[in-house]
Amino acid sequence: MEIVICKDPQDVGKVAADRVISYLEGLPTPVIGLATGSSPLALYEELARRVEAGTFDFSHGLGFALDEYVGIPRSHAESYHSVITRTVVEPLRMDPARVRVPDGLASDLQAAADEYDEAIELAGGVDVQILGIGSNGHIGFNEPFSSFSSRTRVKTLTPETREDNARFFDSIEQVPTHCVTQGLGTIMDSRVAVLVASGERKAEAVAAMVEGPVAARFPASILQFHPRAIVIVDEAAASKLE
Ligand code: F6R
Repeated sequence: MEIVICKDPQDVGKVAADRVISYLEGLPTPVIGLATGSSPLALYEELARRVEAGTFDFSHGLGFALDEYVGIPRSHAESYHSVITRTVVEPLRMDPARVRVPDGLASDLQAAADEYDEAIELAGGVDVQILGIGSNGHIGFNEPFSSFSSRTRVKTLTPETREDNARFFDSIEQVPTHCVTQGLGTIMDSRVAVLVASGERKAEAVAAMVEGPVAARFPASILQFHPRAIVIVDEAAASKLE
């Protein structure tokens, strides 16, 4: 694991953008794995600035989102389909047809999830997987005690995660109870994993991921076994590292 400590969240975005571009540049069909949430926003904004400036072109890239809520329409402003469109596809001028988000409305959710894993394989695998970390150590929506070898599947969101995400909805009752998420095994297949985190609120989770035991109770700790995991954090999120 490589740990990069930056001054502030904007700096995290810039350093992460440099890394992401260096890993994707030159690939004929670069494939990026996309997290939603607050953590990667500075990175996506920085990538968008570089697209705008003409120094980065990702129009030929493919994208696969990490996860999606079950049961809310794609058109809902907080569906991850909408969030990825708003924060990645449009600002990075990607072709919407080349960016996929798991289907949280399929009549057979597991069949759709299996097909999602197959689509990632057909694309040649994920070159760079962008990740955030939940305060309980989840990556994607792989909550504590998720199997390390799991593939894309339906998961129940913990009360803690629903509370964390209630800020995106009018009330906690509106936060879906289930999601479809890439598995820890799916995430571990990525060639490079770039995890970004900012703020004091993430400090304990970052320390447990980097320095704690690799344990199912703290899913992000599996990244200690990733052949190329880069953790880019600001000083506040790094404040509990030894
Ligand atoms: C979202 C995702 C989650 C978030 C995590 C952190 O697609 O996969 O694991 O990365 O919940 O969320 P933020 O960045 O909002 O603190």
